[in-house]
Amino acid sequence: MLKAELHTHINIDPLDYKFVDYSAFQLIDRAAELNFNVLAITCHNYVYDDPAAKEYADKKNILLLFGAEKDVDGKHTLLYNINHEVAQTINTLDDLRRARKEHPEMLVIAAHPFHYYSSCHKKNIIQHPDLFDAWEYSFFYASFFNPNRKTMRLAKAYHKPLVGNSDVHKLKDIGRTYTLIDAAPREEEVFKAIKEGKTKIITTPVPVPELIRITCRAFCVGLRKKWKRRREHPSP
Ligand SMILES: [Fe+2]
Repeated sequence: MLKAELHTHINIDPLDYKFVDYSAFQLIDRAAELNFNVLAITCHNYVYDDPAAKEYADKKNILLLFGAEKDVDGKHTLLYNINHEVAQTINTLDDLRRARKEHPEMLVIAAHPFHYYSSCHKKNIIQHPDLFDAWEYSFFYASFFNPNRKTMRLAKAYHKPLVGNSDVHKLKDIGRTYTLIDAAPREEEVFKAIKEGKTKIITTPVPVPELIRITCRAFCVGLRKKWKRRREHPSP
């Protein structure tokens, strides 16, 4: 089984760069310390694709994947196995439907679908089950608060694969929730195994002080996005 983290941000993330203080190389180092076999970098709306990072990860026996956490109708959507140019064309659910036909090799995961942010897909994953290969079990929960329960219940009913991710913004987050994938350590095998649901989630709840810190950070990011939108589209 491959130990995998499929949702991470780095210090050049176009949206979260102010909160992330480590490079791709530092992230790889930490993942290697924790014996990860597969690591995906998924910046917001940007496919980071650096051959030097890939080579560095290779030397540490980590399969490095380049993806993006793309806003699709404003909802966070993890895309893999496509380049930045293709990712840029996917901005709506209709775009995603088209892109899936044009790029059947693409892997699509709905990030934290039932968390309470406006950036979560929520009912979209039920109304458009064909658009998502898997749904995410997010690290962001506590024993008394766990929106993943709904995701798990529906995944069972809809026979949808689940992957566990830690949506890494701090190096200490990696390893809280991750996925074991039953595949050989090659890109195509990993993507195929996820689509076939050959995954097992390993997870521990986030301590309450951390939960509060992360909530504040998400609130600040939301505000920044709102201000940016207002600056770009001022009301008359
Ligand atoms: Fe994320």
